[in-house]
Amino acid sequence: MKKQVLFLLLICLFPWGSIIKANEPDSAYVFSYATSKNNHHNCLHYAWSVDKENWHSIGPEFQFLFSDFGAWGSQKKMYAPFLFQDLQGLYHCIWTLNNEIGQFAHADSKDLYTWRSQSYPTVMEDGNVQDLEISYVESQKHYLITWYSKDKGFFKTTTVNFKEYTPTQSTEESDRLHIRKEVLVDGEKQIGTYHKMAWEDVDKLIKHQEWMKFHNQERAEQIKDDPIRFAGLKDLKADFVLYPEKSKKISDKLVGIFFEDINYAADGGLYAELVQNRGFEYDLNDKQGRDKSWDHKKSWSLKGDGNFTIETESPIHENNKHFAVLEVAKKGASLLNEGFDGIPVKAGEKYDFSVFAKGMDLTAGFVVSLVDQDGNEIDAVTIKKISNDWKKYSAVLEAIKTEDIAFLKIQPLSEGKFAFDMVSLFPQTTFKGRKNGLRADLAQVIADLDPKFVRFPGGCVAHGNGIDNIYHWKHTIGSLESRKPQRNIWNYHQSVGLGYYEYFQFCEDINAEPIPVVAAGVPCQNSSIGGHGQQGGIPMCDMHDYVHDVLDLIEWANGDKNTQWGKLRAQAGHPKPFNLKYIGIGNEDLITDIFEERFTLLYNAVKEKYPEIEVIGTVGPFYRGTDYVEGWKLATKLQVPMVDEHYYQPPGWFINNQDYYDKYDRSKSKVYLGEYAAHLPNRHMNIETALSEALYLTAIERNGDVVEMTSFAPLLAKEGHTQWNPDLIYFNNTEVKPTVDYYVQKMYGNNSGDQYIASNLRLSSSDHEAVERVAYSVVRDTESNDYIIKLVNMLPVNVDATLDLSSIISDGQEAELTVLKGEPTSRDAKPESSKIIVNSETKYKLPSYSFSLIRLHISNKK
Ligand code: AHR
Repeated sequence: MKKQVLFLLLICLFPWGSIIKANEPDSAYVFSYATSKNNHHNCLHYAWSVDKENWHSIGPEFQFLFSDFGAWGSQKKMYAPFLFQDLQGLYHCIWTLNNEIGQFAHADSKDLYTWRSQSYPTVMEDGNVQDLEISYVESQKHYLITWYSKDKGFFKTTTVNFKEYTPTQSTEESDRLHIRKEVLVDGEKQIGTYHKMAWEDVDKLIKHQEWMKFHNQERAEQIKDDPIRFAGLKDLKADFVLYPEKSKKISDKLVGIFFEDINYAADGGLYAELVQNRGFEYDLNDKQGRDKSWDHKKSWSLKGDGNFTIETESPIHENNKHFAVLEVAKKGASLLNEGFDGIPVKAGEKYDFSVFAKGMDLTAGFVVSLVDQDGNEIDAVTIKKISNDWKKYSAVLEAIKTEDIAFLKIQPLSEGKFAFDMVSLFPQTTFKGRKNGLRADLAQVIADLDPKFVRFPGGCVAHGNGIDNIYHWKHTIGSLESRKPQRNIWNYHQSVGLGYYEYFQFCEDINAEPIPVVAAGVPCQNSSIGGHGQQGGIPMCDMHDYVHDVLDLIEWANGDKNTQWGKLRAQAGHPKPFNLKYIGIGNEDLITDIFEERFTLLYNAVKEKYPEIEVIGTVGPFYRGTDYVEGWKLATKLQVPMVDEHYYQPPGWFINNQDYYDKYDRSKSKVYLGEYAAHLPNRHMNIETALSEALYLTAIERNGDVVEMTSFAPLLAKEGHTQWNPDLIYFNNTEVKPTVDYYVQKMYGNNSGDQYIASNLRLSSSDHEAVERVAYSVVRDTESNDYIIKLVNMLPVNVDATLDLSSIISDGQEAELTVLKGEPTSRDAKPESSKIIVNSETKYKLPSYSFSLIRLHISNKK
């Protein structure tokens, strides 16, 4: 931060600033334009000129406004922006979004770099919108917007507020201004509009761009540049002192987990089901038709002489319409399921098999077996007879040998036609032995973090790709066959076998608070389906029902077993309430009018009916920008108790923004940092990312009075099925591979406190680049009376510290030291713990690139 202050001082106060100022013009022209570079994703640029001849780009190519419409990649483009200043001096930018749709984009700004929420009015039922223009019609006291629609001609609408528009009408070319000009910017022809502005305002644009450039340089700082940055630096010394008399209460829930079904985190991951596509509900649409093999037969194959079809007539449940029909032409034909990359089985382990089956003509039974890759039987059980109606059959299979890749085989005992659905195989050893439970090793690694809460079901999964893909909790409870599977926004399938019940049960099993996140009545702003993101929120006429769905979730979790929804929870096996305390509404949404209207409805309804529930609002996907600002404004206006912030940033950002929360207003909403991670350009996790997170978390502890919770994201990723990197824990069918960053989370999770103890570390170097790379925090767990000192050294040299602990201990105190260290690129470093004796004055060397944690139990408290 000191660097930032220095930078500001330089650009504001340095003498040459005033020299230049003496010769500055009173005004200049600002030219606004967009180029086709980067497939139109670079959006709005400016150039300035005093004579309208010589144009100087501000940037160059700096993005002053970004088009946030639709999906990443194919959308978020800006064509032919038109900038206009209204009578109040507010700037409006309108632009074409793409060359197909009948919508345009609008945003406004007072200063041309702080832009408020975008809106995307639909003005053409059929036809596109190009070459937009705005003018003010004095006689009518309204703004006129005209455009050209390909093959259709010119059209117009009017508005007084840029929120409501009159119905579109055709118009004449004579209504048009034709004020776009072609100028040369940095030697290239650009087309746009220009405006005369006070030089002071032009200068602000230049300063803003310079500030962002500097900020981005800081963000890009990496350890690989340390040999230059810290050339000649020798080991440093430090004095560290504690001030227990200066303590403050902090949140005791700082570290939790973010669980989203991304990267096969649920099906094929934490959910222990071993059969893939057990309900035959996989659909081409799950992958938007891009994978022709991803259909209702996915992961199933027919062996032998017969016919394998999918039918939908008389299903076991309307939510689970598809089922398999095997017509055995010659005895011996079978259906084989390949699981998720094979079915892993362990010698001596038992597996619960179940299936819904019916004989469509004969009622002969079937043999269910586990077979290896050569077809050798691992175990088999015969179900002698089945009914002509759907009925559930169960069996237990026991593996006589370990196989990483086995298959499940169902072989009817005779020729004939047989129907199967919900074919399931679970290891009996699930986490805590729960039926329909979780994979034990994976769940244990998560539990080992000692997370104080679990967020679910996302992330983007919570609000979905288009309104039809919003995650509805009611579709995920009840008998498995009655649940409503759906397309996963991450382009695969969600069986929702790990649904709301299993989630709450897991929270209880690991003693963590559930934090369900429901959609705020809008789908993901990056949706590609059904109307480009939030331009299609749940229609207001359906919001009443949706609000009730959300209220029902609270009743289901907390209601007495005699309430309508509490009864379902009790029937599922949990008569006692789950004691839900929080609910998240929205996930990093665009803060538009559409969002605000729906969020406010939901928030007020929850507040009114369940005032004891703490609502967590949302402030967009970044640590700054329009959604962050508008989200905070809304949260402050509605007095939302907490907001969910998200930021994935490079390690340099975390190093340079340790004061991010120091300046937060304590009287406003509290913060849940719901998604964050340090991202290197190669998106690898290593000591560098882990230490930058450890360092930032010391600042979070310091701000534990305003930051209530944090969760690294995403949590899980299955090798070979990863849509997002980096993730905290990687795994395959047989191994769990925690990352270096996992160990940072674990060190914090296992060593949390509820009191922050002021401390100070004085480094022998005052070079701010060195100072900001040594971070520290001290917390106290008042229950155990343990003091936990966290020391992070992101320097290439050791720091010889003298710890003055005299305010909390006498000499000869036993403590536990845990150190995570390694080469910056190390991806397999693990923390090591040892017992040490500490004295009132203790020497401790912080190794280069390390995170040290000293846990002191104050038995001989002074
Ligand atoms: O964590 C992965 C994704 O990142 C989440 O689904 C979304 O909320 C964010 O953009």
